[in-house]
Amino acid sequence: MSSSEQTFIAIKPDGVHRGLVGPIITRFEQRGFKLVAIKLISPGKEHLEKHYADLAGKPFFPGLIEYMNSGPICAMIWEGREVVKTGRILLGATNPLASAPGTIRGDYAIDVGRNVCHGSDSVESAQKEIALWFQDSEVVKYKSSQFDWVYEKP
Ligand code: CDP
Ligand code: MG
Repeated sequence: MSSSEQTFIAIKPDGVHRGLVGPIITRFEQRGFKLVAIKLISPGKEHLEKHYADLAGKPFFPGLIEYMNSGPICAMIWEGREVVKTGRILLGATNPLASAPGTIRGDYAIDVGRNVCHGSDSVESAQKEIALWFQDSEVVKYKSSQFDWVYEKP
């Protein structure tokens, strides 16, 4: 279980508009994960349809694309041991009403179609999503000064 596993986390347009960029970043930072890429972006409908291609047949798909295309998205890559699985735990359940307090969705959201944040659901989808949203040159390689205080061994 590598400490260099990466996940794609995106603060959705409602999260950006509601001033949740800072609080959401803080949760990942405070857990000990390392930020390796970040940008504010409105990538357009075609890109968003690619990102959610697996959901293309769902009745909520058109509304989902409209929601995601309604404002800027804060796209990020976070790195750390088991960050994909743990990122999903930090986010909470897809439906915020089913999310425990203490999770991002459980603290900041109510409706499923306004659930403020995206996180990759597997290492394989994280790799696909990172390749869709970021160029290699946008990903920063560095050793966090916290590293030896967060991990027992690399
Ligand atoms: O985001 P997550 O991986 O938890 O859920 P998903 O099943 O991959 O769905 C992607 C997104 O579609 C959700 O985060 C919701 O914003 C939206 N969605 C919706 O609007 N209505 C549903 N019944 C299910 C999902
Ligand atoms: Mg998903």
